[in-house]
Amino acid sequence: MSVQTKSQRLFFALWPDNKVRKAISAVGKRAAQQHQGRLVATDNLHLTLSFLGNVSNSQRDCIGRLAESISITPFSLCLEHLGVFPRARVLWLGIKEQPNPLKQLAARLDKGARDCGIQLADQGFTPHVTLMRKVNQLHEFEVEPIHWDVNQFCLVQSVSHPQGVEYRVLKIW
Ligand code: 2AM
Repeated sequence: MSVQTKSQRLFFALWPDNKVRKAISAVGKRAAQQHQGRLVATDNLHLTLSFLGNVSNSQRDCIGRLAESISITPFSLCLEHLGVFPRARVLWLGIKEQPNPLKQLAARLDKGARDCGIQLADQGFTPHVTLMRKVNQLHEFEVEPIHWDVNQFCLVQSVSHPQGVEYRVLKIW
């Protein structure tokens, strides 16, 4: 983790491998044919585990040590249905059943973040991969389930550019 700025906008995420990423991207492209809004770039597709917001270098180092101490039981996800968060105007691809190791991982990261003095929004965990933004209404279509084997998680920095957001994977565990 070499980026040396005063504070960084960070989150923990599951980062799909290329095969899963391509499959998710294909669903996003289909969604874009049926919805007004902005498609998320294929390279940016991910599932957020814990959104940390702006953190200091010392908080980042603290949460990094915490992440190091977590060992996860590998698990599988089945991405299979579409949804919309009406307030955030986000169209997403989600899972029906949350595997326990996923819940435990997200909960441990949230707790670790709080222990490092990071304030989290208390909005519960709805695992999802955002496909499109600025979507007002869901026009449902059938999705071929996407199987995703997970055995790692990562810390990601969100960097804003005039042309859009860039997500940089800082570290993988
Ligand atoms: P979203 O895709 O549902 O918007 C980087 O911004 C990632 O962190 C995105 O996956 C985004 O979720 C999530 N995120 C952004 N702000 C958030 C917040 N206040 N609470 C939870 N997740 C957030």
